[in-house]
Amino acid sequence: MIEKEIKRLKKEKNVVILAHFYQDGTIQDIADFVGDSLALAKEAAKTDADMIVFCGVKFMAETAKILSPEKKVLLPVKNAGCAMANMIDVEKLSKHKKKHPEQTIICYVNTRADVKALSDVCVTSSSAASIVSHFKNKKLLYIPDKNLGAYLRDQMNLDMDVWPGHCYIHNNLNIKDIETKRKQYPDAEILVHPEAPLNVLKQADFVGSTSQILNYATTSDKKTFVIGTDKGLLHPLKKNNPDKTFVLLNEGLSCRDMKLTRPEDVLTALKEERFEITVDPSIASEAKTALDKMIELS
Ligand code: 13P
Ligand code: SF4
Repeated sequence: MIEKEIKRLKKEKNVVILAHFYQDGTIQDIADFVGDSLALAKEAAKTDADMIVFCGVKFMAETAKILSPEKKVLLPVKNAGCAMANMIDVEKLSKHKKKHPEQTIICYVNTRADVKALSDVCVTSSSAASIVSHFKNKKLLYIPDKNLGAYLRDQMNLDMDVWPGHCYIHNNLNIKDIETKRKQYPDAEILVHPEAPLNVLKQADFVGSTSQILNYATTSDKKTFVIGTDKGLLHPLKKNNPDKTFVLLNEGLSCRDMKLTRPEDVLTALKEERFEITVDPSIASEAKTALDKMIELS
């Protein structure tokens, strides 16, 4: 019933519904396009819909608005945010920039628009390594995820400072989780998102973004996988691979804000055209430069 009404309004208003892999399965099934943060940003940049309903968290909807300023962008749950994005702000970053004007700022897409506006280039977890390789010989600052930053620095041998932010669900993963699951599932492969701590990543069989984990498990000959990222990804993993088994690396892998969106919220967003995302035009144009560079280099 709700799904039918959503379909009708979507058609009537020429809306595209975008959803991140961490959304609940019911939301992923309603969406026109489900993806990782890079694919969603690209989809938002190229869509010919008049309106985007973004089922995700605020930085993602803001990114869509910056890349498609002429479109109306709606976030169905007003306060759906990213805890990591709140670990850096303009004041702190400006202070750091004054002290280290020589650093090129590599900004994880999980940031507010005004922080992106102070950065040189944006990256996502699936594009970070290839984008950073263009800046390999410069002095770098990676904001705000200390774990993804430390992983890049370790893999690519970079001269890079790392901001002390983190994602609370991935940062909680530890070696004990790996040891427990290796014992429980000796034939399984352990696939982990690079927002986890470096010592955990070093023990994983594969490190990758949400879409990279999905591709890896789908093309692998193995039958059992331990997943070190948000439980929302289990939905497409199981859908694409009904004959394979997926278990979470630990039980806490559920992003609170990503799980706030319900089909009722999507319906209300469509009916009332709420909650509209706006970005100050001068901030948006600065942030767009860093985002355009991300899309160009990824
Ligand atoms: P992806 O870019 O892999 O989709 O990750 C987004 C995110 O928020 C991870 O916590
Ligand atoms: Fe932010 Fe972590 Fe949630 Fe991703 S999983 S949106 S990084 S809090």
